[in-house]
Amino acid sequence: MQVLVKPDYQALSEEAAAIVDKSVRAKPALTLGLPTGQTPLGMYEQLIAKHRTEGLDFAAVKTFNLDEYAGVSRDDPRSFRTYMRSRLFDHINAKPMNTHIPDNDFQRYEDLIRESGGIDLLIVGIGLNGHIAFNEPGSSFDSRTRLVTLAPETIQAAGQNIPHTAITMGIATILEARKILLLASGARKAEILRRALRGPVSEAAPASALQRHRDLIVIVDEAATGL
Ligand code: GLP
Repeated sequence: MQVLVKPDYQALSEEAAAIVDKSVRAKPALTLGLPTGQTPLGMYEQLIAKHRTEGLDFAAVKTFNLDEYAGVSRDDPRSFRTYMRSRLFDHINAKPMNTHIPDNDFQRYEDLIRESGGIDLLIVGIGLNGHIAFNEPGSSFDSRTRLVTLAPETIQAAGQNIPHTAITMGIATILEARKILLLASGARKAEILRRALRGPVSEAAPASALQRHRDLIVIVDEAATGL
C-alpha cells in the first residue's frame, strides 16, 4: 500500500487526475472503474481540463461505474448515470457505448468487465461506515455485482430521498482490478480511514478488504489523516 498525503482537496484531486492521465496515455484503451459521491468531483474537473487543454483522449477508454441506485430511470436526477453525465461524460470524448453503469443484469455486468480485459485502474471512495461502492458493513469479501439494501446511515448521508436498494460491484469484483486508487478527504473521514487501513481486515469494515490488494494507492488530504 502506498499512501500519498496531500495538503488539501485540490492537491488530492490533481494527484488522482495525474494518475488517471498517465494511465490513459500509457494504455489508450484503459478500462477504468469509477465512483460517484463528493470526493471524486475535483478529480473529474481536472480530467475535463486535461481533455480540453492537454488533449487527454478518452476515445478508446472503457468505464465501469461502481454502483447505481435500484429502480431509478437513466434520467432521474438522483441517478449515478445523471451524475456521471453532468460531472464527466458530457465533457470528455468517451463513447457512450463504452461507459457502463450497473443495472439489474448483474451477470452481464461482470461479463462485460471480463470481456473488456478486466479493470486496469479502479478509483474508489470510502463511506463513513466503511463501505466501498455500496458494499455495506457485513458484505462478503467474495461478493460480486448484486442488489443490496443500503444501510440506514447511508440513506441518511445522501441528504435526499433515495431508493433503499442499490446495485453495486462486489468486493471480489473490486479487488480484481489491477490497480486501486482510494480517495478520502476531510476530517470526518479520518477515523474510518484509520480503521479501514490500519485496523483488522474484517467484513465489519468493507474498505479493510483493500489491505489485501497488492497495488493500492491511497490519496488523502491532511485533514483525513487526522493531522
Ligand atoms: C456513496 C457511494 C460511494 C462513495 C461514498 C462516499 O454512498 N456509493 O461510492 O465512495 O458514498 O461518498 P463521498 O465521497 O460523498 O463521501
